[in-house]
Amino acid sequence: MNTITLSCVSKSFVTYSPVSQLLHDISYVFKQGSTYAITGASGSGKSTLLSLIAGIDRPTSGTILWDEKNINTFNMDQYSYYIYGYISLLLQTPHLITELNVLENVMIPGLIARQSRSQVSQNAKMLLKQVGLSDYEHACPTELSGGQQQRAALARALYSRPKFLLADEPTGSLDASTGDSIAQLLLSCATEWGMALIVSTHDTALAARMDTRLRLADGVLKMCTIT
Ligand SMILES: Nc1ncnc2c1ncn2[C@@H]1O[C@H](COP(=O)(O)OP(=O)(O)OP(=O)(O)O)[C@@H](O)[C@H]1O
Ligand SMILES: [Mg+2]
Repeated sequence: MNTITLSCVSKSFVTYSPVSQLLHDISYVFKQGSTYAITGASGSGKSTLLSLIAGIDRPTSGTILWDEKNINTFNMDQYSYYIYGYISLLLQTPHLITELNVLENVMIPGLIARQSRSQVSQNAKMLLKQVGLSDYEHACPTELSGGQQQRAALARALYSRPKFLLADEPTGSLDASTGDSIAQLLLSCATEWGMALIVSTHDTALAARMDTRLRLADGVLKMCTIT
């Protein structure tokens, strides 16, 4: 079984204030096939933790292992495989490319993987249907609401059927009913594909549906039973 292992991970930022340590000595093993919620107050470091796992930021100390391999020692080819072939990161803000329409945004991972354009288009349309955006395929991202942009970004993140999906507040801009259908989609992808799901969330209903609930507070990651 594939794992992502955090071993004594700490993260500090040097800002206008004195150096502050945001994450302290976090050790945890995330396993493929399981679902995890990371909750915690705004500013507690949830997005930072997901960025570290994705390798788009580096820990100040400690290691993050993909199976036995330290992701921070990867060369470009190894990192490309990790970020495009293994994990997928859904950022808190959608970051859709405004020069492309919604369908083309969702097609990006398939085109990077050099799949045939017609197949990529068909797969992307199916995903847009699953997130309820079939009517917006040819819209420009700026013509979508915040929640619709977030759902388009989720379709893009799911395109490559990642082994680990890191989703930063995937229901953050959604009403309860749409949020519920997105939670259902995430969980069915997790079950069907054996995908691990790590969601950062303030949404207690979403957190309650994950196998394991963790809470970040004072830089420490702890198991919690009540979200
Ligand atoms: N690149 C950076 N440089 C300096 N400080 C940063 C940087 N990135 C994050 N921080 C600080 O780290 C803290 C945690 O930020 P983070 O975005 O991880 O919190 P969060 O738990 O995701 O919050 P929210 O629930 O509001 O999304 C914040 O105080 C933020 O200002
Ligand atoms: Mg955040």
